[in-house]
Amino acid sequence: MRLSHRVASAALLIVLSIVLIKYHLDSLNNDSLRPFWRSSKKSKHPDIITHVRTRINFPKSSVLKTNPSREKTEIIVPNDRIIVMAKLKDVDTNWVGAELAEWKYKIYTVDDTLAPTHTPKNKGREALAYLQYIVDHYHDLPSTIVFLHPHRDGLDGWHTDNPAHNNVDSIRSLQTDYIQKAGFANLRCKQAPGCPGLKPLRHPPSRKTVENAFANAWVELFNTTNVPEEVGAPCCSQFAVSRDQVLQRPHSDYVWFYNWVLETDLPDNVAAAVLENTWHVIFGKDAVFCPDEAQCYEDVYGIPRPESLFST
Ligand SMILES: *[C@@H]1O[C@H](CO)[C@@H](O)[C@H](O)[C@H]1NC(C)=O
Repeated sequence: MRLSHRVASAALLIVLSIVLIKYHLDSLNNDSLRPFWRSSKKSKHPDIITHVRTRINFPKSSVLKTNPSREKTEIIVPNDRIIVMAKLKDVDTNWVGAELAEWKYKIYTVDDTLAPTHTPKNKGREALAYLQYIVDHYHDLPSTIVFLHPHRDGLDGWHTDNPAHNNVDSIRSLQTDYIQKAGFANLRCKQAPGCPGLKPLRHPPSRKTVENAFANAWVELFNTTNVPEEVGAPCCSQFAVSRDQVLQRPHSDYVWFYNWVLETDLPDNVAAAVLENTWHVIFGKDAVFCPDEAQCYEDVYGIPRPESLFST
């Protein structure tokens, strides 16, 4: 009887310690730090444009997989780079954590205020979430911040201009060194749509709603009546910025832009399109920012421009 009691309490102690250790490890692991023992999945669709880069770009994840010491990896990996995203609650964004394991991420649900990370309102499509991230994390930014759409690939991702129209490929080949140097880069290199840009002062005024709304929005956003003749950048509001570039503006500017999105009477698609044509200006580029496509491809992705995408 005694012996079995002892055996039972010993077993209980062992179970208890396992639970405690697990709890401790779990608590080390907040929403952005991923456990080192989880192996990172490779893309289900590896493809020609990334296989060269993946070898070069992934030393950190192999360190992460084979080095059991958190202390060594923690400093290098977790606060170096982040993906910021806005999504509708029904959109599946599990691919981000599963396939881009060496990136932190912050995904704002825009239409569900009960979601753990959310915007207060579904306003301005992705714009409010992007700005909310900067406003909330201005003092604790990683060195590279990528603002990305929530679709991995497929038809909705047509504006991701690699052969598979795939955001995993894009991010895996992204040249973060270049982002550090340039401050801002559009993830799209193909110029159309977006370049040539809008002409906010066109006479007679165009019937394009965004162009029509633009001059007034510019005045409100930048506190200046000095509206540019032309504003343009490749479309689609997917871009990367460096921390240093974000910090070129005071925190109050981002709060100002955030409140503009929150309060503007413009329809959502128009407000989002205004910002789509303004991100590059917010992050330090000229009103017209249309880099040469081939050069852009090489700078941003480190690989030759896939001619198949640009032949038209
Ligand atoms: C615009 O002006 C307001 C009021 O002076 C100021 O609070 C805000 O930061 C300014 N915004 C920008 C982008 O300059």
